[in-house]
Amino acid sequence: MTRIAIISASVRLKRNSHRVTLYLKRFIEEKQLATVEILDLDTYNFPVFKERLRLQSSPAVEVLEIAEKIKSADVVIIVTPEYNGGYPASLKNVIDLLYDEWKRKPIAFATVSAGSFGGMNVITSLQYLFWKMQAWTVPALYPVPEISKTFTEQGEPTDKTSTVKRTTRFIDELMWCIEAKRRMSEN
Ligand SMILES: Cc1cc2nc3c(=O)[nH]c(=O)nc-3n(C[C@H](O)[C@H](O)[C@H](O)COP(=O)(O)O)c2cc1C
Repeated sequence: MTRIAIISASVRLKRNSHRVTLYLKRFIEEKQLATVEILDLDTYNFPVFKERLRLQSSPAVEVLEIAEKIKSADVVIIVTPEYNGGYPASLKNVIDLLYDEWKRKPIAFATVSAGSFGGMNVITSLQYLFWKMQAWTVPALYPVPEISKTFTEQGEPTDKTSTVKRTTRFIDELMWCIEAKRRMSEN
């Protein structure tokens, strides 16, 4: 079975972007496309970065755990808010911890904002960052505008029809990338 990890990047008090994480997990599982594990940075609560995992002499169990989960995932979806035109420090904190784990990993982005642009400003910086990490970024966008209006706290979309339509497009692209990588790895 395909394995998908979703990094929920926001650690903000009363965060809203986690609603999208809950929705995507349910959406994928209901269609039985993959198993989904949420890697919630708020739960992990990593200290501020001091050194990469491979150079740490006694890494924390949680760091080893997230490294293993990312390594074994077929694709990683990152659900991130936009803060002042960029991604949150909590996300960079964990990206820098790891290195080999990101290599050739398909990564898809879901960006979230309170305003009407759906966190789109984050896309270019994330693309560059993951290009540096030699990951493969999935060429599909999933911007979520006006988060507190578009999803409930439980991760239910308020406009189900249009949300299902665009989520299907996003997930289809992601599944195509997983299959493409699988076929290339066979040769
Ligand atoms: C520090 C900070 C900076 C923000 N900057 C932006 C921004 O540049 N553009 C935007 O559309 N929304 C911005 N917002 C609003 C967020 O998009 C909104 O709070 C969203 O819910 C963030 O996700 P979160 O609730 O999971 O933290 C900002 C919010 C915070 C807390």
